[in-house]
Amino acid sequence: MSLKFDHYAVMGNPIAHSKSPMIHTAFAKQTGQNIQYDALLVNNFTEAVSEFKKNGGKGLNITVPFKQQAWELVDIRSKRAEKAGAVNTIYFDQQGHLIGENTDGIGLVRDLTINHKAKIAQQRVLILGAGGAVRGVLEPILAAAPAQCVIANRTVAKAEQLAQLFDHKIIASSYEGLKNHSFDLIINGTSASLQGALPPLADGLLAEGAWCYDMMYAKTATLFMQWAQQQGAIKVLDGLGMLVEQAAESFYLWRGVKPDTQPVIKQLQS
Ligand code: ATR
Repeated sequence: MSLKFDHYAVMGNPIAHSKSPMIHTAFAKQTGQNIQYDALLVNNFTEAVSEFKKNGGKGLNITVPFKQQAWELVDIRSKRAEKAGAVNTIYFDQQGHLIGENTDGIGLVRDLTINHKAKIAQQRVLILGAGGAVRGVLEPILAAAPAQCVIANRTVAKAEQLAQLFDHKIIASSYEGLKNHSFDLIINGTSASLQGALPPLADGLLAEGAWCYDMMYAKTATLFMQWAQQQGAIKVLDGLGMLVEQAAESFYLWRGVKPDTQPVIKQLQS
């Protein structure tokens, strides 16, 4: 049986709220690609991937809570995925091997530097959190050559592990340890916004003209975004652009065509 469309999907649990089907369907329409993209609620991840492949599926996005499991499952990891410790994009090579990529970090860096014309090079960058989401974006951020990259986390040992993993190009800190330091760009990579919480941030962390970015997005400004505004950030951004940019990179890996992300970001904002 031959499929009318090339089949792609995002796997996660929960998945109902995922914007990926809408984003990829918009990319496909815009670039004239014949694809079908579904959101699949998955319990047994390994079985679900094997079933998807058996049925002729071409590629997958992976979201919470399966990104680390996907990293373990794939046969070949890209350099970016290897360091990220997580895979958010899978495709199959001609021999049927599972290739794992991670497009989250490139999505974040593109949203900042291309969509918003932010500077990372030579800037003092502070990243909040040291979980999977932060590890996933560190390589592309460091590749953008910040003057300094500090990671603050409640559990300092986790920030120290990341510093070690990234050859001490990162400085690990507690939140208290940030006092008397200031930064040009602060990125919130904690899951605090999901719980309606805010990491314990002191006043005065923002340098003159600083930008703040929450990797989360919500209909209304997150607590971190509200804090950033109160602290005088000149630009406060959420992670919607990152979501669309990481999807665009996955789409490019699968289809070899780069979609225009701007209309899709605008559609999601409206
Ligand atoms: P994710 O995949 O989203 O990164 P994770 O690996 O569980 O999820 O990591 C969550 C991150 O958010 C951690 O850095 C966590 O801090 P700890 O390592 O100290 O637990 C951070 N985090 C979660 N809730 C937080 C809160 N209310 N305040 C500060 N940091 C928080």
